[in-house]
Amino acid sequence: MSIKKCILSQEEIARRVGQLGQEISLFYRHRPLVLVGVLNGAFIFMADLARALTLEVEIDFIRVASYGQAATSSGVISLSKDVELDLVGKDVLLVEDIIDTGQTLAFLKDFFLKKGAASLRICALIDKEERRQIEVTVDYRGFVVKEGFLVGYGLDCAEQYRNLAAIYHLENPPV
Ligand code: IMP
Ligand code: MG
Repeated sequence: MSIKKCILSQEEIARRVGQLGQEISLFYRHRPLVLVGVLNGAFIFMADLARALTLEVEIDFIRVASYGQAATSSGVISLSKDVELDLVGKDVLLVEDIIDTGQTLAFLKDFFLKKGAASLRICALIDKEERRQIEVTVDYRGFVVKEGFLVGYGLDCAEQYRNLAAIYHLENPPV
């Protein structure tokens, strides 16, 4: 397996995360916010985004499994770690690394609204919009990327590469 090329540098990511932080802070300025990160992929983005907010926030995480070792979505989403905060009546912002087919976020949106959240918005660092199968509104998105399998800045391929500071195209992802 070999990494191809850097498509988003550390500086580009930092700049965009700062802008998203400002936009989100403005929107939620009069309301308490709960950030819910989707593990494992969103852990680095979540850490940077949370520090770019000028808001009081509560932070929690959820974990779902949809991909396993392969680069194509299995379409089967299972919850392997639930949130621990009570979300009833709260404004929730779901923080995700990347949206691809939309299956994961469609599942989570429904899941959080059933838990009684007052509102639910979605922030995804990367939107691979050409591969969307299910319509999902992404309220805040960092970058739109046309194609390819990406790694780094939290994104993995079979749990490798999450710790890379920039985002790269992977040349031969597993199918
Ligand atoms: P979806 O359910 O097809 O939208 O897939 C979303 C999940 O698939 C993301 O949270 C990632 O974990 C994973 N994923 C999708 N595309 C990529 C990629 O290019 N690199 C790494 N993970 C990806
Ligand atoms: Mg993910």
